[in-house]
Amino acid sequence: MNQDFDAAFWDRMYQQRKAAWDSEPNLFLAQDIAGLEPGTALDVGCGEGSDAIWLAKRDWRVTATDISNVALDRGRAADGDRQVSWLQADILAWQPPADAYDLVSLQFLHIPPAERAALFGRLARAVRPGGTLLVVAHHPSDLETTIGRPPIPDLYFTADDVAASLAPGRWEILLGGTRPRSVTDREGRTISIHDMVLKARRIE
Ligand SMILES: C[S@@+](CC[C@H](N)C(=O)[O-])C[C@H]1O[C@@H](n2cnc3c(N)ncnc32)[C@H](O)[C@@H]1O
Repeated sequence: MNQDFDAAFWDRMYQQRKAAWDSEPNLFLAQDIAGLEPGTALDVGCGEGSDAIWLAKRDWRVTATDISNVALDRGRAADGDRQVSWLQADILAWQPPADAYDLVSLQFLHIPPAERAALFGRLARAVRPGGTLLVVAHHPSDLETTIGRPPIPDLYFTADDVAASLAPGRWEILLGGTRPRSVTDREGRTISIHDMVLKARRIE
């Protein structure tokens, strides 16, 4: 893989598209945090902020972080009530405060394998005892569909890959596997794709 997915890459991507993502929260965030008592939340790779704003409206105290200032500016603009704390940071370099968040959410941030264990370790350290880590991403099997994912197999991972990086005995895996979703591909066909979902509760 010879492409740099750095701040300049992501800024360019956002500049080329007026609204890159849906303004609705991610489906499995909305489903999987239902029932959790609102507290502090960290949304890593928050993009234009739909999840962060949705959480804040449900009484979560949210820090939303992304490598792209273009994305964060859109989040700030959409966050009329200034409910969210927006922070520019490269999660491969920035360690969030330890034991600080009741929820750490990573939605569709695809990182090459060499950096993944460090990334998951950073996220796990940021969850406070009793808190929840939620990781959702495109499943590798999407590459065999007509959805048109970037054809870079190294970017995709599974719930087992995330679970393997959590300290044994310290986490209860509440959900780990794949979930199907119906979407429309570029030819207008309805197809089934899959997300990987890992939801884990820190025990101690
Ligand atoms: C596919 S988008 C997903 C955005 C949002 N989570 C969503 O689901 O709509 C991936 C996001 O991760 C951000 N990102 C990529 N690499 C990053 C890094 N190293 N540190 C922080 N954010 C990063 C990108 O700028 C982009 O906004």
